[in-house]
Amino acid sequence: MTYHVPVLLKESMEYLNLKKGGIYVDATLGGGGHTESMLQDPTIKQVFAFDQDEDAVNYASQRLTNYKDKLCIIKSNFSEMRTELALQKIKGVDGILFDLGVSSHQLDEPSRGFSFDRAGDLDMRMDGHTGMTAKELINTYSAEELAKIFRECGEEQAAYKIAQWIVSARAKKKLNTTQDLTDVIDTQMRSNPALVTKTKARIFQAIRIYLNRELELLETSLTDSINLLNPGGRIVVISYHSLEDRIVKTGMQQAAKGCICPKSVLKCVCQQRPKVKIITTKPIIASEGEVLNNSRARSAKLRAAEKIRGESR
Ligand SMILES: C[S@@+](CC[C@H](N)C(=O)[O-])C[C@H]1O[C@@H](n2cnc3c(N)ncnc32)[C@H](O)[C@@H]1O
Repeated sequence: MTYHVPVLLKESMEYLNLKKGGIYVDATLGGGGHTESMLQDPTIKQVFAFDQDEDAVNYASQRLTNYKDKLCIIKSNFSEMRTELALQKIKGVDGILFDLGVSSHQLDEPSRGFSFDRAGDLDMRMDGHTGMTAKELINTYSAEELAKIFRECGEEQAAYKIAQWIVSARAKKKLNTTQDLTDVIDTQMRSNPALVTKTKARIFQAIRIYLNRELELLETSLTDSINLLNPGGRIVVISYHSLEDRIVKTGMQQAAKGCICPKSVLKCVCQQRPKVKIITTKPIIASEGEVLNNSRARSAKLRAAEKIRGESR
């Protein structure tokens, strides 16, 4: 089975605008599809690729072994990019790509517990070694805490009701598997089958986003990445749901805005200047052909910005 088919590959390379002697970062290596495309340009100097998932790092390292002279794979959260690059004596880069979320392999592998239609252990950690598992969360958090997660990370309207179903079910028997969790939703929503699949998708997404701190790390990592770019360097982000896209859009807009003084202040006192120029006024989406061949591309949105020349790091 294919590990992962890269989404918006041509478009992401076009917006990265690779240049001779450039140093690039793939913040989300996965199966290495986007990284490989960068490396196929013989003129670039180096690619640093990050992933927090050991399995992705092992797979992509093997797959991209022919490029080992130009490729440095770092098993780390991309939130550590600044520190990790400093350890490699890299102060600035010419482009950074984020292809957010989980890979098809992570979703397809039952033992990871990411997918509501694969029977497996309730885990859902991208870095399978550290942090709380979905099993711990589902069996120990209060109904109020679970509801907050379902609302904020899954935009689920029936968040509190679903959280209460979970709390009642686990009082009878601990929920250990993805199946145990989906059974709770299936049983309670028997009378509304049309909604069941969407609800399961939102609940699984919410738990995954919360456990992996996806939204908060994205926000801080975007700022760090913009600071790491050399003048003329580009940041390209592919997101897959509205919560992520909102953070990317707002983050880029703020960096492009400069002054953050309140409207009531007549003369700027913050001295902040625009750091980037946004180069995708509207998000780029996948072509019909790509969506037909790869359903994951359906919800993808690509946004890109360029570091303003003359703006120091
Ligand atoms: C959508 S996949 C990337 C696929 C890749 N572009 C390709 O062409 O194969 C996202 C990958 O990013 C990793 N990832 C997600 N969030 C991360 C983070 N905060 N730090 C490091 N890796 C992360 C996941 O483990 C996953 O392997």
